[in-house]
Amino acid sequence: MKIAILSKGPGNYSTKRIKEEALKRGHEVRIINYGLCEARIQANNPIVIYKDKTLEGFDAIIPRIASSYTRYGTAIVRQFEMQGVFSTASSIAIVRSRDKLRAMQLLARAGVGVPKTIFSRGAGDIDRLMEELNGPPIIIKLASGTHGRGVVLAETKKAAKSVIQSFYLMDQEGTNILLQEYVEESAGTDMRAFVVGGKVVASMKRQNLSVDEFRSNLHQGGEGSSIKLTDEERKVAVKAARAMGLSICGVDLMRSKRGPLVLEVNSSPGFGIEQVTGRNVAEKIIEYVEQNAKQRPRKDKVGA
Ligand SMILES: Nc1ncnc2c1ncn2[C@@H]1O[C@H](COP(=O)(O)OP(=O)(O)O)[C@@H](O)[C@H]1O
Ligand SMILES: [Mg+2]
Repeated sequence: MKIAILSKGPGNYSTKRIKEEALKRGHEVRIINYGLCEARIQANNPIVIYKDKTLEGFDAIIPRIASSYTRYGTAIVRQFEMQGVFSTASSIAIVRSRDKLRAMQLLARAGVGVPKTIFSRGAGDIDRLMEELNGPPIIIKLASGTHGRGVVLAETKKAAKSVIQSFYLMDQEGTNILLQEYVEESAGTDMRAFVVGGKVVASMKRQNLSVDEFRSNLHQGGEGSSIKLTDEERKVAVKAARAMGLSICGVDLMRSKRGPLVLEVNSSPGFGIEQVTGRNVAEKIIEYVEQNAKQRPRKDKVGA
């Protein structure tokens, strides 16, 4: 097969690993910097131009779209979709996954446990908000943040009120804000389940050992270790992936008294999990492409 990896970083570990496994399995692979692609919009002939040439003949694309490039990157993915090229993540599902509010709504609708979350336009009745979220403390989150940036732990009512107010200044520029219950039981810890084609193929725990940090993101100093998920956790991860319309994704979960709660679903999950768990995730992805690329792209049924 001829496979394109849409990535801005040919040197990224994830990109390199996907390429390596694809080559190993006898495929032709090309890494394409989607930031340099152009889409030609014309009747009945959707074209992508890259380095002055038309890209042609791909059987599949594997999008690895950076969150700062969501709009541009998904437009290029969409152009490939218009050509009928198989994609491991549809443009609409990628967009969906980049909005934590939309994701929470879809997950909750599907019956997936999520932290209690409130979306509102103001901190007017702070007492009621606190009561509903069992705070303080509460978590305040930008709907479009990544790597732990944009997640605040407000430890007092006063802090919560002023942070909410400051965040709403930004809201005017188009960023939604979520207020969330603080899942105290697993403070500083979360779990990442890597889902490929309806199965969890690797899982790890991320833990931040610093007493000054509540976020477990590797970018915030969290450390990964292998973990065996319970059957329930595995089921929840797979259900979350389906609810988001993503066949390949990283589902972040926390353990709580109410059972597993999903924090978010990543459409371009990192491959650090391979190093932590020793699992060959890249190979699973190429196998998935082999098994699915020949079929007609599935219609997105999420409907939101
Ligand atoms: N409701 C919460 N309760 C406790 N910790 C949380 C909560 N939400 C997020 N965190 C912590 O903050 C980290 C980042 O939050 P997350 O929603 O995954 O945003 P990001 O996309 O920036 O990773 C999580 O990995 C977790 O450690
Ligand atoms: Mg996260």
